[in-house]
Amino acid sequence: MSAANLVMQSYGRCCASPDFFDSFYRHFLASSPLIREKFVDTDMGAQKQLLRQGILNLVMHARGMPDTKLRALGESHSRQHLDIRPELYDLWLDALLLTISEHDKECDADVRQAWREVLNKGIAVIKAGY
Ligand code: HEM
Repeated sequence: MSAANLVMQSYGRCCASPDFFDSFYRHFLASSPLIREKFVDTDMGAQKQLLRQGILNLVMHARGMPDTKLRALGESHSRQHLDIRPELYDLWLDALLLTISEHDKECDADVRQAWREVLNKGIAVIKAGY
């Protein structure tokens, strides 16, 4: 199966796990004070819904969707707006992979590698907007 399809199926299993997004933000916020600082004024309930769609955009991009939505994320996360420095995406990726490993019962080394491939491609588009 292609990396994009492995990821699509894995993401379906993750979204069916009720506290997937809670776990992700628990890991992500725990990873650095720099991350916690960025979310001090954020409604985390709303943020979880936005992230659900954001990850879907990364997955759909790997399946051939144009990069319009990712370039918009690049703009909102850029120096002039949210100012998310490129190295913070490493923490984001680590927190997400850890969360996937915990919530997707079928996650193995191939699935993790497929996620890395898919996410890195989309993250490169977002970082390019910094
Ligand atoms: C907002 C997705 C990485 C911090 C958002 C939104 C989405 C999103 C969809 C809401 C819409 C928007 O503002 O454009 C993603 C995706 C990421 C990512 C898919 C990884 C590829 C990061 C990282 C940080 C971060 C690494 C670092 C702290 C924020 C903040 C907001 C935000 C602070 C605004 C929260 C608020 O409204 O208070 N993100 N994001 N994001 N993101 Fe990200």
